[in-house]
Amino acid sequence: IREEALEKINEAADLKELNALRVAFLGKKGPLQKAMKAMKDMAPEERKSFGQVSNKAKQEIAKAIETMKENLEEAEMNARIKREDIDVTLPARKLPTGSLHPITMVKEDIEELFLGMGYTVAEGPEVETDHYNFELMNLPKGHPARDMQDTFYIDENTLMRTHTSPVQAHVLLEAKGKGPIKIICPGKTYRRDDDDATHSHQFAQCEGLVVDKNVTMGDLKGTLEFFAKRTFGEKREIRLRPSYFPFTEPSVEVDISCGNCGGKGCAMCKGTGWIEILGAGMVNPHVLEMCGFDPKEYQGFAFGIGLERVAMLKYGIDNIRDFYNDDLRFLNQFARKG
Ligand code: PHE
Repeated sequence: IREEALEKINEAADLKELNALRVAFLGKKGPLQKAMKAMKDMAPEERKSFGQVSNKAKQEIAKAIETMKENLEEAEMNARIKREDIDVTLPARKLPTGSLHPITMVKEDIEELFLGMGYTVAEGPEVETDHYNFELMNLPKGHPARDMQDTFYIDENTLMRTHTSPVQAHVLLEAKGKGPIKIICPGKTYRRDDDDATHSHQFAQCEGLVVDKNVTMGDLKGTLEFFAKRTFGEKREIRLRPSYFPFTEPSVEVDISCGNCGGKGCAMCKGTGWIEILGAGMVNPHVLEMCGFDPKEYQGFAFGIGLERVAMLKYGIDNIRDFYNDDLRFLNQFARKG
């Protein structure tokens, strides 16, 4: 029995086969067990030596199984390591990473540009009161110019701000009549417009406000020229056209020379050579007064830049809705490399 077992154990090809052998030779129904049972009919002498021999055989078989088990386990592990071989020189799989939204990029570029000129960044609420959004901006109730900005009202006195200009009032009132003030305020704004290629009910502006002694229209023009050239290229020119805003006097609309035709006139600028980029003006003395500043002592200029408009011109985008559709095919084009 012993020899037969040892031979078979050494030939076992895998752990499963070995286990079957263990059951066969050492199990309750195995030949050793059977032989042991026969012992009770033997003479005491015979029983003793038979017992010794069969116990020894049992131990040897058990040991052989154990040794073989270790060998087989090792072989199996080696085979597995070989099978699951990892090529550490393979390039890693790229994890998908997001990128900044083009409006965020324009916003950050503008912030950097004005921070460099000594401005600070102010903030204001998007849910605004009628008082700040309109009245302090020299747009009393019933003023016809309120029609320029179709408004989402929350209740009679509360609304979604239609422009970032109410932040001017917040900043001025906080300063309690004492200049100088030099802030920009980028942020979301809302108007009850039907969305189309150039209108979005939610959009973004960047307000600018400078209030100090001896601030002139020349300062405004120089500032906006610097902004335009830095943002769109040194070759671009700006021009100021007279316009109207209740909170500035005089008011201007600012155009930039068309980058497509260089000012000669093309489809992009509708043949005029100029493209409108923002509204601006000298802070209306009445606004300064309402916000606690003495207009005899202080003057100021203000401007409001449409961030979508800047992004559309800068990146050649013709549909404002592209910014808000969350289409990765559109957004991925703006991933800054490196
Ligand atoms: N608030 C104006 C608008 O939204 C823009 C503007 C800001 C004009 C500051 C003049 C001065 O149309």
